[in-house]
Amino acid sequence: MHGMLRRIPTCGEKRIKTVFTHIQIKRYHSIGPLSGIDCIYCIGYLSRGNELTPTFTFFDNLNPIVSTHKCFDSLLTPKDHVSRRPSDTYYINKDTVLRTHTSAHQTELMSNHNNAFLVTGDVYRRDEIDSTHYPIFHQMEGVRIFERKQFGNLTEDQQNKIIEEDLKKWLQGAITAIFGQELQMKWVDAYFPFTHPSFELEIYFREKWLEMLGCGLVHQDILKSIGLRDHVGWAFGLGLERLAMVLFQIPDIRLFWSQDERFKSQFTRDEIIKFQEYSKYPPCIKDISFWIDERYQPNDFFEMVRGVGGDLIESVQLADRFVHPKTKRESHCYRINFRSMDRSLTHDEINQLQQSIRDKSLSELKLDLR
Ligand code: PHE
Repeated sequence: MHGMLRRIPTCGEKRIKTVFTHIQIKRYHSIGPLSGIDCIYCIGYLSRGNELTPTFTFFDNLNPIVSTHKCFDSLLTPKDHVSRRPSDTYYINKDTVLRTHTSAHQTELMSNHNNAFLVTGDVYRRDEIDSTHYPIFHQMEGVRIFERKQFGNLTEDQQNKIIEEDLKKWLQGAITAIFGQELQMKWVDAYFPFTHPSFELEIYFREKWLEMLGCGLVHQDILKSIGLRDHVGWAFGLGLERLAMVLFQIPDIRLFWSQDERFKSQFTRDEIIKFQEYSKYPPCIKDISFWIDERYQPNDFFEMVRGVGGDLIESVQLADRFVHPKTKRESHCYRINFRSMDRSLTHDEINQLQQSIRDKSLSELKLDLR
């Protein structure tokens, strides 16, 4: 067992383990809700001893198909914000999307007089392809609203400061309780349209700082828009796969979708283990280069590659850019890394996939291949 995890109370271990199992058994298309009860324990039990801790209400079966109003407008997301772009978000039609974050439910739940709640669920984003990004993942949202009058005569700024400290103390306490004191973490100032001020908590994992959660004070304009004038509150959104990756030392987010017994059998007991990596199959690297124009969106390319290669695509990296000295046209070269988590790939198989990526670059994305 991983040394620094031993201090976790048994009930907590079980719960976190269950969270993990719940994530793991979901399949790409037939995704179901995460069990909220497991998640509350994952975070909720950690805040014992904090006199501000209320009872959170759980929502774990809210529909992931939401209006753009819920996902963006109700959260003050500007009309031209990147997160709204079809290159970043899966649109079902022009007013309906697959939620990009559990924050999509914040405003409605707050306006229904919930003042302390957690929302868990699957969220969807078009994104880059590497070991910590996957088009579907899970988040847990937490929101806590306070009445200003409970702070007596303090100024609003003083109250806000107290709430900010409460939020940070609470989250940091939760993360430390899960991982132990040795874990390196840092707060980074951030921007979200719906919180102010906003922060991110990053965790040091495999020689990189990994964003684990975003949070902040709920924007006053949101509270006003739902009639909560004399209130103040905090909100956070936590990435559950990333939490589990750091907790179990799982190196690649695709493993959550693996049906391989060598993976699944490691998580059958109620304890937190360090994932034992089984032999990696050899990668196969292929490059593809094309000329781009101003319409080009890298996420369209990544999405198409993922569509062709599925979980056999380990990463896609921009390997080179070149601007033609005369024509000023720009070309991109991407390095596609094919590797299965479960088996060896044959050359034929990879060549076929690469050919189909080339074909679709031409026919669907209208890219000018080099
Ligand atoms: N929704 C944000 C994200 O997905 C996280 C967040 C939640 C930030 C709540 C602030 C408050 O990145």
